Amino acid sequence: MSDLIHILCPGNISPLQQVVHHHSLQNLKSHWITCVENLQPLENQKIVFSISLDETGISVKLWEFLHEIARGGPQYFKGCSAVIFVFGANELFTKSISQQLIYYLNQAGVSFIGRPLLEATGSMQNLKHMALSKNLDLYETCLIISQELMTRLMNDCPPKHKNPHLLVLHASNWDTSNTLTLWSHVKDHLGEINIKEIHIENGAIKDCIGCPYKTCSHYGQQDRCYYGGIVVSDIYPAILNCHGLLLLCPNYNDAISANMSAMINRLTALFRKTAFYDKYLFSIIVSGHSGSDIIAKQLISALSINKTFRLPHHFAIMKTANDPGDIEKNPDLTHLAQGFAQHIVTTLKHK
Ligand SMILES: Cc1cc2nc3c(=O)[nH]c(=O)nc-3n(C[C@H](O)[C@H](O)[C@H](O)COP(=O)(O)O)c2cc1C
Repeated sequence: MSDLIHILCPGNISPLQQVVHHHSLQNLKSHWITCVENLQPLENQKIVFSISLDETGISVKLWEFLHEIARGGPQYFKGCSAVIFVFGANELFTKSISQQLIYYLNQAGVSFIGRPLLEATGSMQNLKHMALSKNLDLYETCLIISQELMTRLMNDCPPKHKNPHLLVLHASNWDTSNTLTLWSHVKDHLGEINIKEIHIENGAIKDCIGCPYKTCSHYGQQDRCYYGGIVVSDIYPAILNCHGLLLLCPNYNDAISANMSAMINRLTALFRKTAFYDKYLFSIIVSGHSGSDIIAKQLISALSINKTFRLPHHFAIMKTANDPGDIEKNPDLTHLAQGFAQHIVTTLKHK
């Protein structure tokens, strides 16, 4: 394994950012790219994308970087893996910028370990719970997380399986859903994978009640949650058993559907006991008009940043289809479905 790490760092480097990088890089060789003119395609490399925001949360230099990367196409960072460091000037923007960054890098071929983010808001209060659990102050916590993140990135070995299991969750209707139709085409090419599909019936899942941390952990230790039902009886065991999770997500008001959202909220109790670092997240996203990237970013936040799922490069396919059956009119459908299925197989299965 090479010890070289590429640090993509648009804009001014803040004093905190400087200390954090000095602390986390240790003996690694680093190649710094601070000007967009110096950006170039990379292959099979480790990347840190690091940014300090001002109080507006708008960084022209950051957008220049993302513009260049996005224009470079889906293989610009082929085979690369990355982590993200985002430093805020106030309490806003760090999370939304992290989502954007992960989204664009993932579209350019970058894969991400679970929870690939060091996020420090202006006050660093977002690190408070972690600091309490580590018995450190906020500053020390920030340094420790940066070091842990770098170690996880450098030591990461993406898991592959002889007999992979894919769990597919959806809350849609087979008679009408374009998202389900697209999935059925993908499934046609997944013969080598064990597939378990769970349909979340409308209203079958109560949303998270927001138990106190101790209560949630108590239930989680027993692979349970305050509410029982399909989440505990079917979804928890299936998640524990799977190597990849595929979420079928129609765009409902520029968000994932309420049933899917409730399901993700309810994963919290299970997550308290078992992190999901070894499981890959995939998604099929369909919008009637526009906005699929918003859904992808919501999944990135909820499941990669918050719930520690791994993101394979190009973790989602995003298509537009409105009326029932419209997806079948996509002339590229077979090619698209075949390509995504092949991507799932290559990610999960030993050669
Ligand atoms: C409640 C509801 C809200 C929707 N909101 C949006 C939206 O905000 N943007 C959009 O592009 N399509 C929206 N759509 C259309 C769906 O995304 C579209 O039908 C697409 O085909 C995926 O849904 P399906 O898998 O159920 O067919 C909405 C559909 C429903 C039923």
